[in-house]
Amino acid sequence: MTKPPIPVIAIDGPSASGKGTVAKLVAQRLGFHFLDSGALYRAVTLAALKAGVGLDDEAALARVAAALDISFDGDAIHMNQELVTDAIRSERISASTSEVAAMPAVRQALLKRQRAFRQPPGLVADGRDMGAVVFPDAVLKIYLTADVAERTRRRYKQLIEKGMDANMATLLQDIRQRDERDSARATAPLQMSNDASLLDTTKLSIAAAVEQVLARYAAAKQVP
Ligand code: C5P
Repeated sequence: MTKPPIPVIAIDGPSASGKGTVAKLVAQRLGFHFLDSGALYRAVTLAALKAGVGLDDEAALARVAAALDISFDGDAIHMNQELVTDAIRSERISASTSEVAAMPAVRQALLKRQRAFRQPPGLVADGRDMGAVVFPDAVLKIYLTADVAERTRRRYKQLIEKGMDANMATLLQDIRQRDERDSARATAPLQMSNDASLLDTTKLSIAAAVEQVLARYAAAKQVP
């Protein structure tokens, strides 16, 4: 008898939808591993800027991605032994990352690394193309979103809580621009696939969204 595949829950959706928080909590509740794929793309951007690599040099960026020395330890993210948890979340990095992530060679260079997170007893993977490209056989694919005004409020609150600078109008514009770039790109665009299940969290608390994902996972597991 062949062993059943290690279960993956793919949670995709636009920027600042809260999917990272929800995905992390779902992973905790199930005792699953957690992949923050956006952090990988962000780290590539930061590493490239530090190394003076042009953000339009696809081949060089792919080399940076392939050589990335990154480790995740709870909430702490280290790159070349340096703590970069907050540095990769700045708006400067957020804006540039969607340009870097549009490059097929960069995406290809990160594919194996993302799949390596699939370890027993299971994985919750957060990103844009988790269900469509990285884990097409995921047992559950969620498309988690919220309307853009609510997402802007959430990102604003998050930045202010971290003591970072934020401006609502600029954030709204940045989020719109990023949505547009992530959805319009040719490779692995952000799209809700036919086999994904929509979770609109505009009016949902984080706790309620987590319960929704857990309930859908319980139901998906029953289907042979
Ligand atoms: O999820 P997060 O906001 O951290 O992602 C940052 C950027 O990385 C996104 O705007 C997107 O351009 C890119 N990304 C991606 N594919 C993923 C995850 C993130 O293209 N699976």
